[in-house]
Amino acid sequence: MANEVVDHGRRRFLTVTTSVVGGVGVVAAAVPFIKSWEPSARAKAAGAPVTVDISKIDPGQKVTYPWRGLPVFVVHRTKEQLDALPSLDPRLADPKSDGVSATQQPPYAKNEYRSLKPEWLVVVGICTHLGCVPDFVPEVKPEPFDPEWKGGFYCPCHKSRYDMAGRVFKGVPAPKNLQVPPYHFVDDKTIQVGVDPKEAG
Ligand code: FES
Repeated sequence: MANEVVDHGRRRFLTVTTSVVGGVGVVAAAVPFIKSWEPSARAKAAGAPVTVDISKIDPGQKVTYPWRGLPVFVVHRTKEQLDALPSLDPRLADPKSDGVSATQQPPYAKNEYRSLKPEWLVVVGICTHLGCVPDFVPEVKPEPFDPEWKGGFYCPCHKSRYDMAGRVFKGVPAPKNLQVPPYHFVDDKTIQVGVDPKEAG
């Protein structure tokens, strides 16, 4: 039994599926849009990998899965969103993730897209300031909080902003980029969160 939250940015809805994917049963609660997320010790201890079917996640869409009591965002990025990433570097606190965010991703996701495959972003949806769940604001268009917005995540608690690679902007309360959890591709349609790729040792 799995509940997954599908987020089209402004248009959000809850999809409930009863399938068990890859032999791993996932019991999930709907992810609230604004809340502090404090994983229980039991959830952390559980730590089971989560298998995600990405075949029905359209470009520009985000799906949230719980892993170790944390919301993990799986985002299918569009070419427009990817093309905008390099232009944002001067506005970001640690664009290369080699400063304060050096430990915010596994080595295999320490690249310009912070991912194994450019079009797929996998990040823990917890603001690195005080732990709120950021909103997904994917459209490349001016927003009230940023007239040059290129898509990304906006934390409504204290207005931190992250780009579509989960990289934090300068001048906001959040100190670090969003965390990239361990994950790998089982095949072209399936991601497993919680397990490194085999080649990563
Ligand atoms: S918790 Fe996100 S900005 Fe404070």
